[in-house]
Amino acid sequence: MSAIAEKTVRELALESSSATRVFEKLGIDYCCGGDKSLEEACRAANLSFEQVQSALDAAQQESNVADVRDWQKEPLADLIAHINVTHHKYVRQEIARLGPLFEKVCGVHGKIHPEMLHVQAVFRGLSQELTQHMMKEEMVLFPYIVRMEEAVIQREPVLPPPFGSVANPVAMMEHEHDSAGDALRAMRSASNGYAAPDGACTSYQALYRALAEFEADLHQHIHLENNILFPRAIAMENQQ
Ligand SMILES: [Fe+2]
Ligand SMILES: [Fe+2]
Repeated sequence: MSAIAEKTVRELALESSSATRVFEKLGIDYCCGGDKSLEEACRAANLSFEQVQSALDAAQQESNVADVRDWQKEPLADLIAHINVTHHKYVRQEIARLGPLFEKVCGVHGKIHPEMLHVQAVFRGLSQELTQHMMKEEMVLFPYIVRMEEAVIQREPVLPPPFGSVANPVAMMEHEHDSAGDALRAMRSASNGYAAPDGACTSYQALYRALAEFEADLHQHIHLENNILFPRAIAMENQQ
């Protein structure tokens, strides 16, 4: 067994973004459940370790490393800007777009496919939670992290946050990420892995495809926060 079998899924996800794409494709949880070793994660997902290892090797070779920023090293302010303009913007756009698409598909197919009504209800709850969640990040936690980093760079004293320690809002955000992860799993299971039934109309298929993409984006988004931004912010605060 190679050394990578012993590494955790989180460590591998942090080493290369190509690994996160492989985990996404194979259904290996790398954001909230990333502390399993790769070997354990393969067993849990019923996948052969060798198969996953070769998928990781192939993806690594394909990826154009020059294009990918190493968020372990870039300033926290840049990572936060990236999260805001890429992931938060996308979540808001998709919530606005998919609500009406759900209405349309459920109106036509909800009677024959009641599971779609369940997926719609879970998505609605998730949308409300994420809207509140992103607002708290953008108005409270992220601006504080940016100010803290600025003070550290300028070698100025860091003003204490109104919430005691950065670890407090981080714990709350991580708890909310777990809840979002539960909602994603519930939608995936109710929709049979986003497999549209035979003869499903284009809107039905488009909605399922969009939900699968929404899931992948949210995994990447939570990975950047849970595994990179939050630990780096806590470490920075602890060094003061
Ligand atoms: Fe976020
Ligand atoms: Fe978040």
